[in-house]
Amino acid sequence: MAGTDNERARKAAEGLVYSSGFGNEHGSEAVPGALPVGRNSPQRAPLGLYAEQLSGSAFTEPRSHNRRSWLYRIRPSAAHPPFARANRGEIRSAPFTECLPDPNRLRWDPLPEPADPTDFVDGLWTLGGNGDATQRTGMAVHLYHVNASMERRVFGNADGELLIVPERGGLLLRTEFGLLRVEPGHVALIPRGVRFRVELLDAAAPGQGRPTARGYVCENYGRPFELPALGPIGANGLANPRDFLAPTAAYEDVEGPVEVVNKFCGQLWTATYDHSPLDVVAWHGNHVPYVYDLRRFNVIGSISYDHPDPSIFTVLTSPSDTPGLAGVDFVVFAPRWLVGEDTFRPPYFHRNVMTEYMGLIEGAYDAKAAGFVPGGGSLHNMMSAHGPDRETFDRASAAELAPQKIDDGLAFMFETRWPLTLTEQARDAGHRQRGYDDVWQGLQRHFRP
Ligand SMILES: [Fe+2]
Repeated sequence: MAGTDNERARKAAEGLVYSSGFGNEHGSEAVPGALPVGRNSPQRAPLGLYAEQLSGSAFTEPRSHNRRSWLYRIRPSAAHPPFARANRGEIRSAPFTECLPDPNRLRWDPLPEPADPTDFVDGLWTLGGNGDATQRTGMAVHLYHVNASMERRVFGNADGELLIVPERGGLLLRTEFGLLRVEPGHVALIPRGVRFRVELLDAAAPGQGRPTARGYVCENYGRPFELPALGPIGANGLANPRDFLAPTAAYEDVEGPVEVVNKFCGQLWTATYDHSPLDVVAWHGNHVPYVYDLRRFNVIGSISYDHPDPSIFTVLTSPSDTPGLAGVDFVVFAPRWLVGEDTFRPPYFHRNVMTEYMGLIEGAYDAKAAGFVPGGGSLHNMMSAHGPDRETFDRASAAELAPQKIDDGLAFMFETRWPLTLTEQARDAGHRQRGYDDVWQGLQRHFRP
């Protein structure tokens, strides 16, 4: 009964308590006394629990990058039967070799609604990506359109962290670390290796058989996302650390079959456990899932002329070994004032060594008058020329430059250092827009020597 599941998820999501702060050493216990004091691995862990470390970085990485958490659980993760290969559905992983890299500007409408009951794992649909999951470099862009909660099923991704960007429908993420509620306008991050289940929060819309949820996922194979350096901006601004919320411990003490799906080096593997692996009663550490409300983003821009490059809108960045060069950045175009004098205010015309995938969570985006819709997306690969469409250019070039609030949209970008290669299903998708190039047709010649 879908409605019953959703009501249960909504009830579980009410009044969740979080632990605040990006990258903090958090700690939480669902039962008093479950978290050992003063040591990580006592001879006997409290309450008969098993102690287990989850490493998100090599043991020896510098403290500034070192990530691990200690989990105190009913059974150790090691207590599981063998994994067997499973159908990977529409999930693809790097290296992406199905298609040639395409220099064309590309755009898609939203992913169609699934015909059959489809949960988050079955509903993941890969658009493309770069790098190599086995080398822990690069990223993938996935979309999801789902109409069922995961039931007695848990997912974990050994290949990278998952940044989930809902566009329609709230989600309850039941993780090993506790529960996260993520609504459109929020993002959630599941670190590499952390097990979780996705449940739908919303009831079906009137006249609709099943509730649906859809959105985007950035899979980051590289260094975990961190907050960008602020440089001359100072100690505050952009995404403020305290607005990132980690869960507090909540565990399932469930016997009986639970399917655990493990994405490993691009393939799905599955095993049927005799218990739920979401059985962590207490934990501490900094390798933790979190949720962030994009409307908390402190938008910084010009108060004189021009506007800064869109890197000023970076929420999270996955650094590479080269300073300033990200494997992938997550960038948000949030409501903001435009006040620049003698300035072409929409995003400028651009050719970029980086590759830009853009999506829209709600409303409109100020560089495109039409065709870029919530749930859709556009891809401007390395050095492909892009920018405002003709209608936007004409309007912005003639506009009277009074202070203007951009408040009707929430767009985002996954910007990556490597070209992004499509999957066949993205190249051939019926919902790919043919004729996207036309938006730049009719840009008039105005040159008057
Ligand atoms: Fe651009």
